[in-house]
Amino acid sequence: MSYETILVEQRDAVTLVTFNRPQALNALNKQVLKDLIDAFAAYDADPAQRCLVLTGSEKAFAAGADIKEMSEKPSVDFFLEDFFAEWTSRVTATRKPWIAAVSGFALGGGCEVAMMADFILAADTAKFGQPEIKLGVAPGMGGSQRLTRAVGKAKAMEMCLTGRMMDAAEAERSGLVARVVPAADLLDEALKSAAAIAAMPPVAAMINKEMVNLAFEGGLSQAILIERRLFQILTSTEDRTEGMKAFVEKRPGLWKGR
Ligand code: HXC
Repeated sequence: MSYETILVEQRDAVTLVTFNRPQALNALNKQVLKDLIDAFAAYDADPAQRCLVLTGSEKAFAAGADIKEMSEKPSVDFFLEDFFAEWTSRVTATRKPWIAAVSGFALGGGCEVAMMADFILAADTAKFGQPEIKLGVAPGMGGSQRLTRAVGKAKAMEMCLTGRMMDAAEAERSGLVARVVPAADLLDEALKSAAAIAAMPPVAAMINKEMVNLAFEGGLSQAILIERRLFQILTSTEDRTEGMKAFVEKRPGLWKGR
């Protein structure tokens, strides 16, 4: 399997997947999502692989969905493509454990991808946020549901409404991440955790994962479908067009409120 935007290597029973679009802070474009879908499918199908680690660069895990790509897209196409639905289904279908190892920015879709992991290990430099509101949109890959379930309504609402970022210490205090480690140790720690999981009985690992998810995900799929539809509808606003254009032109957006 060859990939354009991620690096994939196998270290014994652990698959290490690294985002590799440093020039765009690992923004998630169509190709990244396609590569991730293939890498996760290959991981899930290979009985020799027992745990996966997804990581980014020191500066960014992923700075969100690719705003430049989205800014060109007609609203109806978000709906017709069922924007990011294929990736969401692939991740949800992954039966074996995986960890997100986050250093630097995990914003918007990047934060949402990290929250899809079975758990997050964070470097002390990690910053989590759902700043979509600044672009005239909202989370569209489960963020509003997973963040709220993880950190509670007050913090999730504040983050979604103001776009403020949460640092690693707050993320650990709030239950968003399993553990914070020094940035220099992040990959080693994530691989160590993954190796420990890979050494467990694999069926038990899958069942443990399902059980914990049962507690977390009751009613979630419907909420995520509704969230995705609302995200797609929101892309028809003038403020979304303006917000994305302003980002590309590196200027503040001028909001019309419609
Ligand atoms: C496309 C992006 C990007 C993104 C950064 N870049 N984030 N390109 N999409 N999400 C690009 C920049 O345009 C720039 O390219 C390069 O990466 C470096 O970024 P800078 O902004 O110069 O870096 P810095 O000043 O350090 O600021 C870092 C940052 C900022 C705070 C993370 O880049 C930022 O605010 N990014 C956008 C974050 C965001 O709004 N994410 C949510 C996206 S919406 P050039 O070519 O100029 O060098 C979303 C919706 C999900 O995720 C819903 C899915 C259904």
